[in-house]
Amino acid sequence: MFFAPPNAAQSHDDETDPEIFDLSVENTMSPSIQVAAVADLPAGASKLVEVNRTRIALFNLEGEIYAIEDVCTHDGGPLVEGKLVNGCQIQCPRHGARFDIRTGAALSFPAFEPTRTYAVQIREGMIWIEL
Ligand code: FES
Repeated sequence: MFFAPPNAAQSHDDETDPEIFDLSVENTMSPSIQVAAVADLPAGASKLVEVNRTRIALFNLEGEIYAIEDVCTHDGGPLVEGKLVNGCQIQCPRHGARFDIRTGAALSFPAFEPTRTYAVQIREGMIWIEL
């Protein structure tokens, strides 16, 4: 198994460009990868990373870190660019569907299917997500 450290990520120009990671998942049931430092994601902040060509949005909700696939199930909107509402919901910037960041559940029209979530672990100040 190969882990690409964050400092090996490609450079990015602004907040909507993800840091990119590639992970080989050979012989591993549930691989995890380090994607960011907790210090880089203060309470209320979001961050986009890309792992194996999948865009993943990280959110810090009052000190708890969550990771969801950055794809609105209505029409592929970039959830990381949405607005946080009601404390734990992200509102898609395209047509306004809301998702629970904690569970990925679709909470409002026009989305009906949940978005994928990823288990998050904090180890020595770093954010790891399980793939
Ligand atoms: S793409 Fe997200 S609500 Fe339409």
